[in-house]
Amino acid sequence: MRSSQDNRRQQPDSEPPRSGLSRRSLLGMAAAGTAVVAVGVGGNRLWSGSSEIPDWTYENIPPQQGRRVIVTGANGFPEGDRSGLGFHIALGLARAGAHVIIASRSQERGEEAIRWMMADSPDAVVRFEPLDLADLNSVRNFVASMHASSGGLDLLVNNAGTMGTVERQVSVDGFERVFATNALGPFALTAGLLPLLRNGNVPRIVWMCSGRGAFGDLDLDDLQREQSYDYASAYNDSKQAHLIAALECDRRSRALGWGVASIAAHPGVARTNLIPDGPGLDSPEGWRFRNMPFMFQGSAQGALPALYAAASPQAAGGGYYGPKGVMGMRGLPGLASVPDNSRDPQMAVDVWETLQRLGTVSFS
Ligand SMILES: NC(=O)c1ccc[n+]([C@@H]2O[C@H](COP(=O)([O-])OP(=O)(O)OC[C@H]3O[C@@H](n4cnc5c(N)ncnc54)[C@H](OP(=O)(O)O)[C@@H]3O)[C@@H](O)[C@H]2O)c1
Repeated sequence: MRSSQDNRRQQPDSEPPRSGLSRRSLLGMAAAGTAVVAVGVGGNRLWSGSSEIPDWTYENIPPQQGRRVIVTGANGFPEGDRSGLGFHIALGLARAGAHVIIASRSQERGEEAIRWMMADSPDAVVRFEPLDLADLNSVRNFVASMHASSGGLDLLVNNAGTMGTVERQVSVDGFERVFATNALGPFALTAGLLPLLRNGNVPRIVWMCSGRGAFGDLDLDDLQREQSYDYASAYNDSKQAHLIAALECDRRSRALGWGVASIAAHPGVARTNLIPDGPGLDSPEGWRFRNMPFMFQGSAQGALPALYAAASPQAAGGGYYGPKGVMGMRGLPGLASVPDNSRDPQMAVDVWETLQRLGTVSFS
């Protein structure tokens, strides 16, 4: 088993041509800068890492043979100096023997990600299934496909997300697109897959949150942001909602006997496609991405808290895990603090009921 640093080392024969500093490559480093700035402007609300968890990395992933896993947004194969977090989550689980389903929008990019994974681990069992989280009909189709296929489900990793674009966009269902992608879609997906998870083996749901969620100021009466939109606020709020849903899901699972552990994680600040594919290199985040690359850890390491949540026997339902170094921005997995804005039980109920209503889903 290789270390996390080795995760991007091998390339498949079909590696696409690289142009040393392609758009995607240049942008890859930007994701971290965002949180760095968040630290600068909101020190009193910093999330914090912890050293309470002994060092845990790819070598510590327990055998996953027999486990059927869905990782959303796992198509971010290595490009230039970065790759998506979902790619490393899927690869880490596949190396350990899990049967991994990559759920993403682009079949072409999904298949390319699979080629990379197979080059790394020829015995890996990985396949692609189309899913657009910003399209509730696509979510329903994906859920139907999973129910129709035999094999059950043991783990869902709600990883996919967007930072949003400078200009406000609307999903096909008419929702503000960042909210639709990061909060509503994953929630509806989880609701649809819950019956399969309830029949799973030691089933888990992992929700990829963000330290930026600590800066959220979620207003359930203004989810559309028609009057005033900025992608940073939309992103922060969507990640606040995602964490609140993760924690509420675990409370409900315990209260209603679902037998499914719901666990939150965040990657700290990692060099991925999040900023390049979102607000872009000309945005404030893009500037930091280009000029402060030292603030961004590699995406293989950024994936570790979610992998810990997904696979460690020590990860607990209702837990929140993130990097344990440098103010929770980098390092190996540790305990993360739930920010004050995600602790209110009544708000959790309101968020849950709002997402159920807007997604026309229920959990059972
Ligand atoms: N990087 C960081 O520093 C950081 C920090 C905190 C939290 N996060 C979170 O980590 C998660 C992974 O992000 P990343 O940093 O790895 O960024 P990334 O490289 O941009 O990966 C995002 C993934 O989500 C997928 N995706 C986007 N919109 C989708 C949709 N509508 N339906 C289905 N899939 C969709 C993308 O697929 P396409 O190829 O189709 O676009 C891509 O695979 C996100 O939830 C992000 O918010 C990242």
